[in-house]
Amino acid sequence: MRVAITGGTGFVGRHLAKRLDPADTVIVSRRTGVPIDDVDALTAAFAGCDVVAHCAGINREIGDQTFARVHVDGTRAVVEAARRTGVRRIVMLSFLRARPDCGSAYHETKWAAEELVRRSGIDHTILKAGMIYGSGDHMVDHATRAVRTWPVFATVGCRDRTVRPVPVEEAVNVLLAALEGRVPNPTVAVVGAEELEFATAVRRIARVAGRRPVYVRAPVWAIRVLAQLTEWTMVVPLVAKAQARMLAEGVSEPAPFAPQLPKGIRPTLMFDDERIRAALPDGRFGLRDLRITNCWAGRRRDGF
Ligand SMILES: NC(=O)c1ccc[n+]([C@@H]2O[C@H](COP(=O)([O-])OP(=O)(O)OC[C@H]3O[C@@H](n4cnc5c(N)ncnc54)[C@H](OP(=O)(O)O)[C@@H]3O)[C@@H](O)[C@H]2O)c1
Repeated sequence: MRVAITGGTGFVGRHLAKRLDPADTVIVSRRTGVPIDDVDALTAAFAGCDVVAHCAGINREIGDQTFARVHVDGTRAVVEAARRTGVRRIVMLSFLRARPDCGSAYHETKWAAEELVRRSGIDHTILKAGMIYGSGDHMVDHATRAVRTWPVFATVGCRDRTVRPVPVEEAVNVLLAALEGRVPNPTVAVVGAEELEFATAVRRIARVAGRRPVYVRAPVWAIRVLAQLTEWTMVVPLVAKAQARMLAEGVSEPAPFAPQLPKGIRPTLMFDDERIRAALPDGRFGLRDLRITNCWAGRRRDGF
């Protein structure tokens, strides 16, 4: 089975690629010279592929890389290139709560992308996944580096929401099962075995990282302000606006409803110390995480 992975340089895509034969895997991303809104480049990349794992996406907009362009135009191009090259199946990694008319461009464009795949006429599986964690992730990485950098950690709202973290190994098992046609439903929810409050998840991560920050509860609007500020100033924001929305509404239940995975494919692993330890990044937040420092360093490298 020859597989093309859009977003194959990203967190989930890299873990998926590691489980496949490199000789039969095509990595699609801007870094490999194939932006997902370029139908001709995608068509060339998909040639000879049986299946496409569509894992490309962004969680914040930068310049012309808007949610609409990457998620909607990009997925339209992926579908068109799949049609042109006779790809048999598309497996799309979407978000658990991607849905229309909810006031979040991230959620709405992921939903629009789902709909393009649903209406493509190509055999497909849409994986509505909750938060995925593991080495090189966003969730454990940011929480760990935050507790190593600041003595205070803000959790959202007076009522804590819950999350069902999915270990990336299990998310990849599901992707592989879907690529092989072993997931019967065209749309399924992918959530972890354990449901816990966000604050409990952060406390566990901090404990494994050997830190004991003071926890404060911040109103949702304050987290939104923090998200806007860190989107403006950080290379990878401490929390993106889309993520602030996820924290505010929880990441446990699919919206709209999507059936569970069949037993045997469904995640069973807990969010425990061993798995958290395996996901811990090195270091803390520093100047290199600021966009201005990076611009300056880039200019120095270029001789400006
Ligand atoms: N991580 C999670 O917990 C989670 C949960 C549910 C759903 N998802 C969804 O799953 C997808 C992958 O998540 P991730 O955590 O692996 O994200 P990630 O680490 O940020 O990786 C995103 C990937 O998309 C590629 N990409 C972005 N814009 C592109 C463009 N215009 N053209 C081609 N490639 C592009 C990136 O490569 P380049 O930068 O080289 O282009 C990268 O390989 C995302 O769509 C996300 O919304 C993630």
